Amino acid sequence: MSIEIVGVVGAGVMGVGVAQNLAQTGHRVILVDSSEERLRRVGDEIRQGIRSQLLLKKVKLAESPEQILERVTRTSDFAKLAEAQFVIENVTESWEIKKPVWEQLDRICPAETVLAANTSAISITRFGSVTRRPDKVVGIHFMNPVPMKRMVEVIRGFHTSNETIETTRAVLGAMGKELVVVEDSPGFVSNRVLMLTINEAIFLVQDRVASAEDVDRIFKGCFGHPMGPLETGDLIGLDTILLSLEVLYESFNDSKYRPCPLLRKMVDAGLHGRKSGRGFYHYA
Ligand SMILES: NC(=O)c1ccc[n+]([C@@H]2O[C@H](COP(=O)([O-])OP(=O)(O)OC[C@H]3O[C@@H](n4cnc5c(N)ncnc54)[C@H](O)[C@@H]3O)[C@@H](O)[C@H]2O)c1
Repeated sequence: MSIEIVGVVGAGVMGVGVAQNLAQTGHRVILVDSSEERLRRVGDEIRQGIRSQLLLKKVKLAESPEQILERVTRTSDFAKLAEAQFVIENVTESWEIKKPVWEQLDRICPAETVLAANTSAISITRFGSVTRRPDKVVGIHFMNPVPMKRMVEVIRGFHTSNETIETTRAVLGAMGKELVVVEDSPGFVSNRVLMLTINEAIFLVQDRVASAEDVDRIFKGCFGHPMGPLETGDLIGLDTILLSLEVLYESFNDSKYRPCPLLRKMVDAGLHGRKSGRGFYHYA
């Protein structure tokens, strides 16, 4: 069965990127968010996302942005997801917020629909445990910005079936993605390493060992990374970094994941990185 209608839950940084990518690759998207204000901003964000791709020559489009946008239904009504053949959840990185969303998805979506979690660190097995279909639950850890990043980390939960992995492979293939499948563990491969790196880089700034600019210059100049850890933190969202570190800290009961106090202070002060206009850097 080819998947044509995809539900996307959460219209934040990731949900909008996933919706844009799906619509650009010919899928119909049902994009759901509980915030009407967020939903109102989706049109402009997708237009801006397409503009950036064209500017960087990352895409050739046969259609206008308006034609692409026509495929994205925006709604706060979860019941509309009953129509979706595959669902990708991208709400805030907090189990308290995600759990009721997953219970709702399990009630609304037909039993054969695969439910995918786009999470930075939460165990995929835990998502499966609050549904009646743990074999149809999978993790898809997209990279940001979604339409420009080819590689995706796919996570197999304890009960995830091979059929679910193959359906996921087909959906991602149709989105133009490559994937690496890994076993379930908090933070998976990428974020178990990346979150510690960003957190330690923030400690360096807090301890006045170097400025944010100099920390990033070392990673770019010495290791050839296209972005330094603090620029990456701003891109991901410092609030999401903090929540991910808290999930890792709680999941492993290991103090090495304790969030840096400076990170917490910046998040409390509303400095969430690019999406709020200010983090370690200023954004217009
Ligand atoms: N930002 C990144 O670079 C990145 C990368 C990979 C994965 N992720 C993961 O993707 C998920 C989303 O992250 P984000 O950066 O887009 O966060 P975000 O804060 O930008 O967006 C979260 C969205 O979820 C919505 N939401 C909250 N509660 C909801 C509910 N009950 N029902 C419907 N919508 C609800 C919010 O209104 C918001 O629009 C998180 O789990 C995060 O860890 C983020």
